Amino acid sequence: MQLTAQPRNDARADVVQKANDIVQVKQVTRELPLGNEQISILRGISFAIPRYSWIAIMGSSGSGKSTLLGLLAGLDTPSSGEIHVDGVDITHMDEGKLARFRNEKIGMVFQSFNLIPTLTALENVEVPLFASRSSERSSARAKRMLELVRLGDRLHHRPNQLSGGQQQRVAIARALVNEPNLLVADEPTGNLDSVTGEAILDLFDNLRKELGLTIVIATHDRAVAARVDGILHLADGLLVEDGR
Ligand SMILES: Nc1ncnc2c1ncn2[C@@H]1O[C@H](COP(=O)(O)OP(=O)(O)O)[C@@H](O)[C@H]1O
Ligand SMILES: [Mg+2]
Repeated sequence: MQLTAQPRNDARADVVQKANDIVQVKQVTRELPLGNEQISILRGISFAIPRYSWIAIMGSSGSGKSTLLGLLAGLDTPSSGEIHVDGVDITHMDEGKLARFRNEKIGMVFQSFNLIPTLTALENVEVPLFASRSSERSSARAKRMLELVRLGDRLHHRPNQLSGGQQQRVAIARALVNEPNLLVADEPTGNLDSVTGEAILDLFDNLRKELGLTIVIATHDRAVAARVDGILHLADGLLVEDGR
């Protein structure tokens, strides 16, 4: 596959390309109040992500990676501009519809796993199923996802009984249990040693092939760069040509 994530300033990309893009980001800005001022965290960025690709967002700490991923995942709203996911404008959706869309189409994984400590691995993975209209019995489906991330023998362990890498695999199973098209991962290997981190990256690579996923991963891990289809470099809230 050729380099697939391209900064795109021309808003009228051709129609065929649009159908192939799972994400379109158009002139997005994000400002936040700081005291009496507004600070610009994202300062007008545009790009598209082709379906089934694996894209890394790289940039130093504070460059806006988490802010951008939160917008892609529909957890936050841009100050201006539009974001389309799977052909749908998520920037102008009402909150109820967006919550359903997010639950069905977008999975999210964080650096700190964010598992519920009092629930077992299986119960953690079942959580997103309660909000969806899944016909399959939820525990069967959650179990299948945990088997997919090779934790079939840890179903009833709680997070504090699992290693960091295992906890992240539970979080990945949870993110994928509703069969989303898009997986957004914010520094998923940031709390893991390099060997465990590599294993998580292998897992992403296998899952995207098995499940037909598009993956967007924020990282400053150079090891990721070698494995992805394209890299978007963020610097100070803007996309730049390379890491400098
Ligand atoms: N809720 C917030 N309020 C004010 N500033 C924020 C908030 N969240 C992030 N920022 C600022 O926005 C910038 C980008 O943050 P972030 O998206 O977390 O960057 P990264 O993930 O690349 O480290 C940073 O300067 C950060 O301090
Ligand atoms: Mg961050």
